[in-house]
Amino acid sequence: MLNQYINDNKDRFVDELLDMLRIPSVSADPKFKADVMRNAEYLKARLIEAGADNVELVETAGNPVVYGEKLVDPNLPTVLVYGHYDVQPADPYELWTSPPFEPVIKDGKIYARGACDDKGQMYMHVKAFETMVKTGTLACNVKFMIEGEEEVGSVNLGAFVREHKDRLQGDVILISDTGMLANDTPSITTGLRGLSYLEVEVTGPNRDLHSGLYGGAVANPINILCQMIASLHDENNHITIPGFYDNVQELSQEERADMARAPFDLEKYKKALNLGDVHGEAGYVTMERNSIRPTLDVNGIWGGYTGEGAKTVIPSKAYAKISMRLVPNQTSEEITEKFKKHFESIAPKSVKVEVKPHHGGEPVVTPTDSPAYQAAAKAYEETFGVKPIPVRSGGSIPIVAMFKSELGLDSVLMGFGLDSDAIHSPNESYGLFNFMKGIETIPLFYKYFAELKK
Ligand code: BES
Ligand code: MN
Ligand code: MN
Repeated sequence: MLNQYINDNKDRFVDELLDMLRIPSVSADPKFKADVMRNAEYLKARLIEAGADNVELVETAGNPVVYGEKLVDPNLPTVLVYGHYDVQPADPYELWTSPPFEPVIKDGKIYARGACDDKGQMYMHVKAFETMVKTGTLACNVKFMIEGEEEVGSVNLGAFVREHKDRLQGDVILISDTGMLANDTPSITTGLRGLSYLEVEVTGPNRDLHSGLYGGAVANPINILCQMIASLHDENNHITIPGFYDNVQELSQEERADMARAPFDLEKYKKALNLGDVHGEAGYVTMERNSIRPTLDVNGIWGGYTGEGAKTVIPSKAYAKISMRLVPNQTSEEITEKFKKHFESIAPKSVKVEVKPHHGGEPVVTPTDSPAYQAAAKAYEETFGVKPIPVRSGGSIPIVAMFKSELGLDSVLMGFGLDSDAIHSPNESYGLFNFMKGIETIPLFYKYFAELKK
């Protein structure tokens, strides 16, 4: 019955997603504020159509949270669905094969900014919900909270959760905003890294200088910044900030051996990214480096003259944006503080440095012995024909740790994206196979969760 309904309505499901993908809901850039609001309204209308009650845009200090619910029976468990309707900026536009907000379907994939992260994945939940409502098979109570600021650090969602604690009572948080290993190798994400994001500013002379008249005699802040950044890793690619690894939870040999059982092909990985070799912390393999180990990366660096031709100048200032991915039991506050202290301490007297923290988020690991995880695993096994593998991811969804600390709720991360979906990159895509598989798998989660929760 479910699959019949899904099949009969497949084209409309896809069309509705395409319509949403046409809305450039970029949260990072105030220029798109009206589009962000338009997307929230669009989602509100679709939730009402799908059969949700009490649908509203809940105001926050930033973009609204789209809330809606269907409370069928107080004796049934309640699933809180989280997702986000905001997207990353589409820049650089010139690298897109088709415009980022004019979705096209090519070779079975939808190409658009947000196709996978997170509009395509979030919308599977709306359509799975519709399917359950319209076929009279909704096995749990549902509460939707879809936010519009995930890509800028969910800065106002903590306050939203604290203010609406009563309304957000439930048994589990259900999220599709992660990936899986491959279309024939489903996996469930069991961990996310935390994040400490900051910006540094290095100031040399009080004005830009002629690089002939002053070159060699005063500090060039770009040169200095590069030296300082280079010193943050040693020859083994360990991070040199004192105390950086103090609280890092090391995995046992057994846990690491377990991880190594997940299929991974290093040659394919290198080929997909056109890399001569991989790079990372000595003593750990790629799958560990990008999930259970903390990192430090420059996300952007600028200063001086970058226009056409040449300009001989020693700039007054240089800047960088730096992110550190965190693992249990590091905290963003601790790591930001350690970075700041260290970075200031290694600056030579010839420059001044300023460290400006942006947002942060805490790492999480979710249980695999819970009814919710078991229900998800059964659901995947039924639709994919193989048991899903638990995998810790390297990405971050800062609100997941907060759901645990504020609401006491664990999350189940039922992601359907693939690495090749190129989230945050030009030509982001999402497979129609994945979109439809998600819509088929989610109702089974509800069914098994209701059974196992009894
Ligand atoms: N959906 C991603 C996170 C993600 C993707 C986790 C794939 C696991 C697998 C999310 O939208 C995201 O991009 N998060 C940001 C953090 C945020 C604070 C900007 C990230 O991980 O960089
Ligand atoms: Mn996302
Ligand atoms: Mn994202």
